[in-house]
Amino acid sequence: MNSTGPALQCRHPDLAAVVDELHALDHVRLPARSLSDVRAVQIRRVVRRIESLLPHHGGHGERTAGYAFALGQALDLPHDALRDLHFAALLHDIGLLTVPADILSKGGPLTGDEYAAVQSHPRAAAELLEPIRFLRQAAILIAHHHERWDGFGYPYGLRGQFIPLGSRILAVADTFDALATRRLAAAEVFDHETALAQLQAMAGSQLDPDLVATFVRLAPALRPDSSPGWGCAPHPFGRGASVPPGPPARPFSGKAARPAGEPSRADRPARLATTMNESPPRL
Ligand SMILES: [Fe+2]
Ligand SMILES: [Fe+2]
Repeated sequence: MNSTGPALQCRHPDLAAVVDELHALDHVRLPARSLSDVRAVQIRRVVRRIESLLPHHGGHGERTAGYAFALGQALDLPHDALRDLHFAALLHDIGLLTVPADILSKGGPLTGDEYAAVQSHPRAAAELLEPIRFLRQAAILIAHHHERWDGFGYPYGLRGQFIPLGSRILAVADTFDALATRRLAAAEVFDHETALAQLQAMAGSQLDPDLVATFVRLAPALRPDSSPGWGCAPHPFGRGASVPPGPPARPFSGKAARPAGEPSRADRPARLATTMNESPPRL
């Protein structure tokens, strides 16, 4: 089974086996609802294996998926979109297995080349997952999970509602977990309330401000040990948030869609470098 493309040259020795397990889930034949539940269970198992191979990532996919699923429910996302969002959130950092281990475990500041390697992980993940039919939409969401609302993210520099809604949700969930847990050894860690305040400080720059506002409203119901999501009992979080859904996710094309008149990423390297150093680490 051909799991990876030619661009993925540096990769963990277990990556091919992990991706092959996901490929195998494409061929399971069950009634639709049972199929999604079985795939969710198996993806969780694969994610635990992935996280055992990455430093400081234990439980990160499950927690991020819980936050993202709660936010998606509050926005009344349709059934299929919730399922794809949940799968994407669980698997969003699989691309880190293509980054050399010594970079991921490095304690000090990263060099420019090392940053570039880390920044390749959303694109690498999309390349790995896009050939798996039931993960095609999830691959698109993962490809853009490090875009920023202000357009200074990576890998394509999309901005605002040009970023798929699911990717914006994923960014809020991923960022909150990075702030509120000890996932990254060198990162500053905040208590729940301070992490929410930090998240609000990123609204309108790094993160979609409407989604942050919705997440903050949900926060009292969020528990670190909760794991809502596909295959679990319905989550009790409220619905009816006023955030409108963004444009539908576009096919992963490898090209940035940029509002007319916006500078390309090539035109703004200095700002990008500053932004990377300003932001808390989030892989
Ligand atoms: Fe992450
Ligand atoms: Fe990431």
